Amino acid sequence: MTNSLTWLGHAALQLKIGETIILVDPFLIGNPQAVVTPEAVQAEYILVTHGHEDHVGDTIAIARRTGATVISNAEICGWLGKQGIKTHGQHLGGGFNYPFGYLKMTFALHGSALPDGSYGGNPGGFILTTPDDKNIYIAGDTGLFGDMQLIGAIGLDIAVLPIGDNYTMGPADALQAVKFLKPKMVLPIHYNTFPLIQQDPAAWAKMVEAETPSKVSLLKPGESIQF
Ligand code: NI
Ligand code: MN
Repeated sequence: MTNSLTWLGHAALQLKIGETIILVDPFLIGNPQAVVTPEAVQAEYILVTHGHEDHVGDTIAIARRTGATVISNAEICGWLGKQGIKTHGQHLGGGFNYPFGYLKMTFALHGSALPDGSYGGNPGGFILTTPDDKNIYIAGDTGLFGDMQLIGAIGLDIAVLPIGDNYTMGPADALQAVKFLKPKMVLPIHYNTFPLIQQDPAAWAKMVEAETPSKVSLLKPGESIQF
């Protein structure tokens, strides 16, 4: 089975698990790092970690055009459902078997207000276990928390972590997160999109690889990892 993970800039990702295309937090219009437009992407599923504009992004337009099912917490799914979007609501700690694998929602230390100010429930992240047993953790926007050790205990192939600081973990806390999560590979995201989250990803990668056995994959928006 061939799987890929493509960084679309900021926190937006495209996962291809076998033949299934899954978008995560598809914020493209207004994302200065975006390398694709909402009109050009394909999706069968869209995962939304929390309600903030730079994560919900173009979810509605993409779901309307492609007919994709949106997976998020129950509150965000309720808000999308009222707008005619097909959804599958989950909640923190709960998982479900989809054709592309077992997807569990994890908690995140952050906020989740929706773009129109509606209540977006609690923010989250996702752990995907693929049909060929690869574990991918997408932290979402979060501060560091000690229970990352429990997430790491399942054995992670890839962890996708924010390093931008200001709104999420910064480089030092993201390094500690790698020590807790012990992924084979880590992909830093949520940096250099806006002036408040400027970071040096190469310096962070050097630090992580010096202090942990994890490998850092530094992608440019549009680039992919195969796994
Ligand atoms: Ni956020
Ligand atoms: Mn964000």
